[in-house]
This record gives sequence, structure tokens and C-alpha cells, in this order.
Amino acid sequence: MTIFAPRVFSGVQPTGNLHLGNYLGAIVRFVALQDTHECLYCVVDLHAITVWQDPAELKRQIREVTAAFIAAGIDPKAHIVFNQSQVSAHAELAWIFNCVARMGWLNRMTQFKEKAGKDRENASVGLFAYPNLMSADILAYKATHVPVGEDQKQHLELARDTAAKFNHDYAETIAALGHGDAFFPLPEPLIQGPATRVMSLRDGTKKMSKSDPSDYSRINLTDDADGIAQKVRKAKTDPEPLPSEPKGLEGRPEADNLVGIYAALAGTSRDQVLAEHGGAQFSAFKPLLAELAVEKLAPIAGEMRRLLADPAYIDGVLGDGAERAAAIADPILADVKDVVGLLASRRR
Ligand code: AMP
Ligand code: TRP
Repeated sequence: MTIFAPRVFSGVQPTGNLHLGNYLGAIVRFVALQDTHECLYCVVDLHAITVWQDPAELKRQIREVTAAFIAAGIDPKAHIVFNQSQVSAHAELAWIFNCVARMGWLNRMTQFKEKAGKDRENASVGLFAYPNLMSADILAYKATHVPVGEDQKQHLELARDTAAKFNHDYAETIAALGHGDAFFPLPEPLIQGPATRVMSLRDGTKKMSKSDPSDYSRINLTDDADGIAQKVRKAKTDPEPLPSEPKGLEGRPEADNLVGIYAALAGTSRDQVLAEHGGAQFSAFKPLLAELAVEKLAPIAGEMRRLLADPAYIDGVLGDGAERAAAIADPILADVKDVVGLLASRRR
């Protein structure tokens, strides 16, 4: 059995309005994993352009996500922070995976169905092939662990299927070229914590999302203290007080969501929050939640503003990250080409 060294990879799209769901479902987890793993965190701009992006806005948003990573506590020196399109291995490996993954697998992807909507004929080819690019992101580094929110689970399963099919289809050359019995690891999703699926503040049955037309549905990482407090105050709830156990949250999606958010921000569990606040009315609980959200998020917004005032610094971080990322991915891509039967790249 080939053993793969543990390595973490994850990505966030620079599509504007980074929100509390991105933060609690993904970025907080990214920060925590730095203590125990070698980590690569990528601003996935090639994923972003699968739907229309205004060019000037896209550049701004690439820098904004980078600033959010750093402001939240990701250390770009100890780990690698970079921009997808600056490392060509992603696009190259994605093409090879377009030839490994099957139409039937991609046809089952629920995110494509949601994003393409009714007018599927008019969706970009890139939007359909998106999961293959995501597999390439991860496997270009032979990453073993992928922290994501709940909504990415199906894409991770496809990445595992693609890695397994590649290992199987090319098993003979993989062994002959000295790579043992598996070329790629089967990457594991890390979907953990009380906020793997943060819901809209206006509707507890809908995911908090960048694309929701109502700004009151989400707390943006760039919101100021007043904005955060106001959105929490206006969040939809029900008239019942908080239960003292998680079972009492069943059938109460808005209450469940606010308790999950509180737990994630406080670094505890739903159980703990309800043990402390069970019986409280929302009129009492919301101000506490607002205060906690402001305490945790406002400093990040401030630090993001400071970083964004110096785009040259951000571009320097991304440039350095891309070089270090390419140093890992390029030799792996060269091995992939060798396995598939493509000739080695000419020297540049
Ligand atoms: P995206 O902005 O779509 O690139 O997502 C970046 C990361 O945030 C991914 O790991 C998503 O799974 C996660 N994420 C996005 N929305 C939510 C949400 N509402 N709750 C929890 N995690 C989320
Ligand atoms: N598809 C992910 C999302 O929309 C972003 C992403 C792209 C990603 N490549 C990745 C996440 C690789 C984890 C690993 O949230």
C-alpha cells in the first residue's frame, strides 16, 4: 500500500461577499489545521469564471479573499497561500481528469443543476466540468485532507472516484514507473464543527450564500460592527424560547441556525450553548450573539481593510505562494504525464 504524507488543500472562490458561512464552514477550520498539517489554501479564480465575472471586480475580489485568509489567521509564510491561475498545473491536470471522469458522474452533481438552473443549454462548459478542476486542485498536490462546508461533499466524492479510476486505469504503468500500487491518494473531506452548513438569516431552510439578493440574509466578513448587530437583530426567529437540549431544535431551522452560529463563534458545541442559554427568549439571546459576532468578526474586517490598502503586499504573498505551490505541483504533473504516456514537457 502506497502511503501518502498528510497534506491539506482547500479553495475559496473570489466571487464577492465572503460571509459567515465561508468563515465558519471553511476558513476557521483552515486556521486550526495549520497547527497539525502542511496546508495549501488557494483562491480559485478559474472556478470563479465558470460564471460571468466583471474583470476589474475579479481582480479586486482575488485580493480580498487573500486578505481575508491572512486577516483570519492563516500564515502565508509557514503555509502556502496562492492564486489558482498562477499555477498552470491546475488547468493541465484538469484536462487530463476531463478524460478520466465520466459524463454520468458529472451529470449527477447537484451544484451544477442548481447553478445552471432551467437554462442548462446556456451554462458554460466550464461550469459542467468544474468538479474536475476541483479534483485537479487537490490531486496536483496529492493532498490527503480537504476542509470544506457540507455543500462540497459530493464534489469530494467525485475527486475520490476520479483518483481511484486513474489509479485503476493506469495501474500497470503506475507500478512500472515505481509509484507503487496507487499514484493518487483518495482525498478525505473534513466537514466538522457546529457550522458546516450556515443558513440564511432570513430563511432557515436556505443556505447562507454570496448570491442571495438580500444582504440581510448573510453577515459579510467586511460588515462593520453596526451592520453585524443590525443583521443579527433582524434575523428571523420563532416565538419559542431556546430549548435546553439540541433535540428541542428539531423543526426550528432558524433557532437551530443561530445556536449553531453561536457555538461556532464561541468555539463550543450546540449542547454547551443550550446548557447555558436554554429557556432564554430570542430578545435576550440575540444581543449576546450580536456581541459575540462583533467581537470575533470586526477585528478581521479591520485587518482586511489594512491589508487591502497595500495591494503590492498581497500580490507579493500570492506570487511567493504560487512559486512554492508550483514547486510541489509541477513534478507531480510531470509524473502524471509520464504515467498517461505523454512525452515530457520541453524545457522552458
Ligand atoms: P465558495 O465561496 O463557494 O468558494 O465556498 C468556500 C467554502 O465555504 C467552501 O468550503 C464551502 O463549503 C464553504 N461554505 C460556503 N457557504 C457555506 C455555508 N452557508 N455554510 C457553511 N460553509 C459554507
Ligand atoms: N468548489 C469549492 C466551493 O465552491 C471551491 C474549491 C475549488 C475547492 N477547488 C477546491 C474546495 C479544492 C476544496 C478543494 O466552495
